[in-house]
Amino acid sequence: MRRGSLFQLILIGVLIGAAVSAVALLIPWLPPSASVERGRIDIVFWIVTAICIGIFAIVFAVSIFSYMRFRARPDDDSDGPPIHGHTGLEIAWTAVPTVLVVVIAVASAVALAKNDHIPADHMTVEVTGQQFAWSFKYPAGGDVTTTELRLPLNKSTELKLHALDVIHSFWVPQFGQKQDAVPGITTHLKITPDKVGRFPVICTELCGLGHALMRSWAIVMKPADFQKWLKQAKKGISGPGAGLAVFNNNGCGGCHTFKPASSKGTVGPDLDDLSASAKKAGQPLEEFVRDSIVDPNAYVAPGYPPNVMPKTFGSLPKSQLDALVQYLVTGGKQS
Ligand code: CUA
Repeated sequence: MRRGSLFQLILIGVLIGAAVSAVALLIPWLPPSASVERGRIDIVFWIVTAICIGIFAIVFAVSIFSYMRFRARPDDDSDGPPIHGHTGLEIAWTAVPTVLVVVIAVASAVALAKNDHIPADHMTVEVTGQQFAWSFKYPAGGDVTTTELRLPLNKSTELKLHALDVIHSFWVPQFGQKQDAVPGITTHLKITPDKVGRFPVICTELCGLGHALMRSWAIVMKPADFQKWLKQAKKGISGPGAGLAVFNNNGCGGCHTFKPASSKGTVGPDLDDLSASAKKAGQPLEEFVRDSIVDPNAYVAPGYPPNVMPKTFGSLPKSQLDALVQYLVTGGKQS
């Protein structure tokens, strides 16, 4: 091969490689990483991507070069010269892919082993999926229940996943891992968040009509803030003030206006005049409120669409549900 040809071939390869690398690097294909586990997955991802770009550039460059250089002339009907193998080339195209596959396998095995290892010093959160909402219970906080997952920064947390009806799947894109929640068994997922912030929790297993709505948030807090929150939440759900605590823990104020809780949500109906709503529904006040929490579609307020409020509040521990109902029916008075 002449020197000029080799230069041409390399030039094409470098240009293609640079163009594809730019596409890979300049476009933010993935959401930013927010956990140690996701960081490991990203390393494997970029190793594989780099290998693919290299192979693509070589194959593409040789194809383009051959197409330009060895194209038959219009009047040339002769066969090409016979070729009987090339031992060096065959050894190369066996050895190189073997090395590449071994590199990918080792990197993946290391990432998987580290991501699955749950250290002795970890926190546990019970995660329950049901059509069509998530709920989170914190054994360390006296079984406080929330609809948004709260996690301390830089602390490994083991999620124990349960499902009440069908198979769901827990996924926070910024945490990089998915795990199914399967009825009848407990599955596990370890997360070590390394960024403070608010990240979407998505159900990623088609689980019914409301699958697309089965979303929540994972809130990563500084460890001191998290401990403060957990302590307050634990204290809040027992004794006086329990109603307001359950109201706040479960994010009721995000959707509902309720003056005693200083909440201004407008997604769902105003809760300040529940007796009027109960009258409209033709139900005794306390029954109306309890039914509306446990089965939100029982009475849908005029002007509001059904299937917006999650049904997951029906699985609140009984003492917390009672406190919430009392809090609402008494217009914010605490027993
Ligand atoms: Cu639960 Cu999709």
